[in-house]
Amino acid sequence: MEQTTAATDYVISPLGDALGAEVTGLDLTQPLSGETIDELKKAIGRYGVLCFRKQALSEAQQIEFSKQWGPLEDFPEEDKTVAAATVYHVANVSADGQSLPETDFRVIFQKVNARWHTDSSYRYVPAFVSLLYGIEVMPKGAPGGRTGFSNMIKAYAALPEALKDEIEPLHMVHTYEFGRRLFPELPPVSKHEKESVPPVSQPLVRVHPDRGNERSLYFTANAGNEISGLPLEEGQALHRKLVEHISQSEFTYFHEWEKGDLVVWDNRTMLHKAEAYDMSKYRRVFRRTTVAGDGPVLGPYSRAVIGNKRAAK
Ligand code: OGA
Ligand code: MN
Repeated sequence: MEQTTAATDYVISPLGDALGAEVTGLDLTQPLSGETIDELKKAIGRYGVLCFRKQALSEAQQIEFSKQWGPLEDFPEEDKTVAAATVYHVANVSADGQSLPETDFRVIFQKVNARWHTDSSYRYVPAFVSLLYGIEVMPKGAPGGRTGFSNMIKAYAALPEALKDEIEPLHMVHTYEFGRRLFPELPPVSKHEKESVPPVSQPLVRVHPDRGNERSLYFTANAGNEISGLPLEEGQALHRKLVEHISQSEFTYFHEWEKGDLVVWDNRTMLHKAEAYDMSKYRRVFRRTTVAGDGPVLGPYSRAVIGNKRAAK
């Protein structure tokens, strides 16, 4: 018999009304059966965020588990990886564990994550899921340092009909460089980074063929704030209005980390952000892997959605 975790060995329980579920009873150092992976993929479609508690994952084990979700993305940055280009060191300490002053660019870089976003939105094909593993977490009761999530399916559904109509044809311009420009202390984007991720426009309304063409909002606050086709200030005002809308508690869940949590989120339907904390006082260390998406973001007018394929020659 195949040595895998039986489908009945674990429990999925919701974490809140807006989104999220906790998974207990799975050891992610062991390969899971295809059946379990399929169930977890269904669960992430339903809950948007899954938290696997009490894990003890080496970097190699995290990579192995992540690959069971699909091929991994590598990161455009040249200077923040640990061993593999597919692993992202999300921390206010150096890769070898040294505490860093708040003025260090590796610490400042963490602040780009403090705005609502979805990973790799600046790529033509953005990420499917991200997996973030808690290595050093905030002490219990310390202020801040949670990761916030917002459910874009629910946030879209709750928009006033007039606003749904207004945003239907619109796109946001996403640039990797925008996050860097927010903090002039950060080093300029390198030639390699610039060439690997040129600007893209993504529809504000994302259509999900795998969910019966259900719709969600799709935008970020860390890769831009300009809406193509609208005058600059009008677009930025609309962007602010959307940020305010999705920040409401009925759409959000804030994860309080425990050491050994592996949190997986669906970048197609959820936004997330790092909550501010005292970076001079607390160490906060995570390891992230990211599973690539399987195609570009589709909007209401995308040919693949409306079935208006050009005849083959
Ligand atoms: C990320 C991210 C949020 C956090 O790793 O992609 O946005 O709370 N992290 O550190
Ligand atoms: Mn992120």
